[in-house]
This record gives sequence, structure tokens and C-alpha cells, in this order.
Amino acid sequence: MNASIDILVVHDEAVDEDVIRALLAPDAELRIVGYLDGLGHHAPDCDVLVVACGAYNDDAGALIREAVEDRPERPVVLVTQGAPNGYVDQAFLAGAVDIVVLPQPCDVSLAGALSHQVRFTLGKAVARRAGAGSGEGKMVVMIGPKGGSGKTLTATNLAAALAHAGRSVVVVDLDLQFGDVGLALGLAPTTTMYDLLTSGGSMDAEKLDAFLVDHPSGARALLAPRRPDQAGRITVDFLREVYVLLRATHDVVIVDTPPAFTPEVIAAVDASSDVCMVAMLDALSLKNVKLGFETLELMGYADGNIRFLLNRADTSVGITLDDVQAIIGRVPDVLVPSDREITRSVNEGTPVALKHRSSDAGKAFFKLAALIADAPQGVASTKRRRRLSFSRSN
Ligand SMILES: Nc1ncnc2c1ncn2[C@@H]1O[C@H](COP(=O)(O)OP(=O)(O)OP(=O)(O)O)[C@@H](O)[C@H]1O
Ligand SMILES: [Mg+2]
Repeated sequence: MNASIDILVVHDEAVDEDVIRALLAPDAELRIVGYLDGLGHHAPDCDVLVVACGAYNDDAGALIREAVEDRPERPVVLVTQGAPNGYVDQAFLAGAVDIVVLPQPCDVSLAGALSHQVRFTLGKAVARRAGAGSGEGKMVVMIGPKGGSGKTLTATNLAAALAHAGRSVVVVDLDLQFGDVGLALGLAPTTTMYDLLTSGGSMDAEKLDAFLVDHPSGARALLAPRRPDQAGRITVDFLREVYVLLRATHDVVIVDTPPAFTPEVIAAVDASSDVCMVAMLDALSLKNVKLGFETLELMGYADGNIRFLLNRADTSVGITLDDVQAIIGRVPDVLVPSDREITRSVNEGTPVALKHRSSDAGKAFFKLAALIADAPQGVASTKRRRRLSFSRSN
């Protein structure tokens, strides 16, 4: 952890100052510069703002939003008690960079037992703020809020193209219930993220490495649980830890997602350097993609870090590229045609980008790979901050 992180704590009456002190374990490296009682307070200067409340509520959300709007570069960490169900996405949308969940009830000794984990969380938040991520790999999240739009196709072909170009690349299958990255790459699910989660002990890069499945192209994959009932065990905290380790050991981490803004997807977007929006030429897909862009805007995602891929772009269905531009407000960066070879390659488990590299589809995925890999460091790897700006120079 960097020297001397100044933490300001704003808490409500449900959370005791002694519990917070035990949780943060202040010392020479981490100072608590003040406690403000009551969530209505306006936050003065500090490196990290900790908002602690018994149960997440509108006041906490308003305070986080206001603090992030005031100083977007200062991380806000939420500490709550009890199960985090139902508010994780709200808290992230408000602008919290991380959430720490205390047991309920919580006393000083229980809080003290969590201090190691919390200090790691705070250290990460500050490191991100300081731009310490500039040496880490990129992380690209596929977003396609309508099912079947081509996210898995894009994730797997992007991985194959990047691997072909000599990059170390790993695909994380975040379609936790019905993930099919393994199928699309022709990989047997010998190990999955569920196996990693349930393997016991603490996680480090070496251990995580043992649970990745290798593709002949050199790309690797962390596969989704084998069965839908195992998916519920995968937590956002676990995934965040996975992303940090994978980014430290790979040039590019690609995250395939289900067709929804689930808390896991929002957390992945939050942890990412780039997003690839995948759309098709139909009204429902375009409507949902527009909503997707608006959600990214709400999250303060830097515009320059979003790629827009139009799949089945040559389909004649009464919607033109001009219509797409008018509806979405931007021109697609990459056009992937409809191609029987694509369907065939998915069925065979061989990415079309490798099998038919010089086909239009193959070229499209290599173009996307170049856009992701060759984006200037300052654009693609620097962490944006929610509500910071949409400036391309950011
Ligand atoms: N351009 C294309 N040409 C031919 N077939 C395609 C094309 N794009 C997608 N497909 C086929 O459509 C199906 C759906 O694609 P894919 O699985 O990539 O979508 P998805 O967005 O990941 O779906 P889900 O949201 O259900 O995960 C696949 O079987 C794939 O073979
Ligand atoms: Mg999919």
C-alpha cells in the first residue's frame, strides 16, 4: 500500500466508530482524518472517502453521487452491514468503486478480522486513482444487451486474433448460467471458475493460472460454471480479485457477458479499460444497445474506450447503416457480415478469425483486435472515473 492514505469516514448511527477503526486498522500508512456522523454531511478533503451505513439507503446513494461529482478522482468505498442483495448495482451506479460488507451484527473483533481485506481494497482504490494501472493489461468487456447478438462470437474471435498477433490473452466467461465460451473455442470444461472458487485457500496468480484452459491459438479461458446451479456461488468480490490477477499476468483480458446489466456485468465494466458494444440490425437490438450506451454514459465511462461492433451488418432487413448512426449516434468501428462459415466455425469450435483469416469476418475481428491492442496507452489503459467526463483526451 502507498504511504499515508488519508481516509475520511462518513457513517450513520447504525455503524459504530470503534468498528470502523478496527476495520481500517489505522497506522503510519493509513490515517483516518475524520469521522462525520450522519450521511447528510458534505465531505472535506481526503484520499479515499468511506461511506459506512447499516443498510444501503437513498442518503448513502446521494452522498456517494455528490462526493463523486465533486471530486471524481477520489475513490469512494461503501461499507454496509448484512447481505448485499439488491443494491450492489445502485451503489456502483452512484459511483462507489468498491463495497465492503460487514457481518450483522458486527463487533470490534469481527471487524478487525476483516481489516486485511479492507486495506487491500483501499490500497487498490488508491492505486487505481494514481494510475498504477498503466502497467497492467487491458480488460475488454463485451456488451450486447440483446441475446444472440454475437458477444460470444466476438469475444472468442477477438481472443484468437490477439493470440495470433502474439498477445497473451484470456477470456473470462461471465455468462455464469449459460456460458458457452468453451463450446465456441472447442474447449472441454476440465476446470471452471467454480472449481477455482471452491478449491479452498487463498488465491494468487499461480493458483488462478492452474484453472485456465488453454486453446491451441495460445488464448486461454476461465470458463463459466458447468451447471446453472453453481453460478449463484460466484460473487462480485471473487470476480474482482480474478480480474486484478489476470490483468497483472496477461496483455488483454476479455470478458464475455450475458445479455443483461447484471451486478456482475456492471462490476466488470467498472473494472475494465475498454468496452465493446455488440449490436445487430434489428430494432430490438438497437434499442437495447442505445440503452447500453446510455448506461455507460451514466457510469461515466470514457467515450474513447468504447468500441462499437455491428454484427450481421450486411443483412438486408430494412435498416441501413445511416439508420444505425441516427439511432445510436455513432458510426460502428467494425462491421461483421453474416457468414455461413461463422455458424460452421462456432459449431466446430474453431474461431473463424483463425480458420478463414482473410474472409471479411476474419478481417473484421483482426481489425477489432488492432483497435484494442494498438490504442494508445493513455486512452485504453488509464482508468476513467465515473462522472468524470466523456473527453476523448481523457
Ligand atoms: N455474423 C454471423 N454470421 C453467422 N452466424 C452468426 C453471426 N453472428 C452470430 N452468429 C450465430 O448466432 C449465434 C449467437 O451468437 P453468439 O452466441 O455469439 O451471441 P451472444 O450475444 O453471445 O448470445 P447470448 O446473449 O445468448 O450469449 C451463434 O450460434 C452464432 O453462430
Ligand atoms: Mg453468449
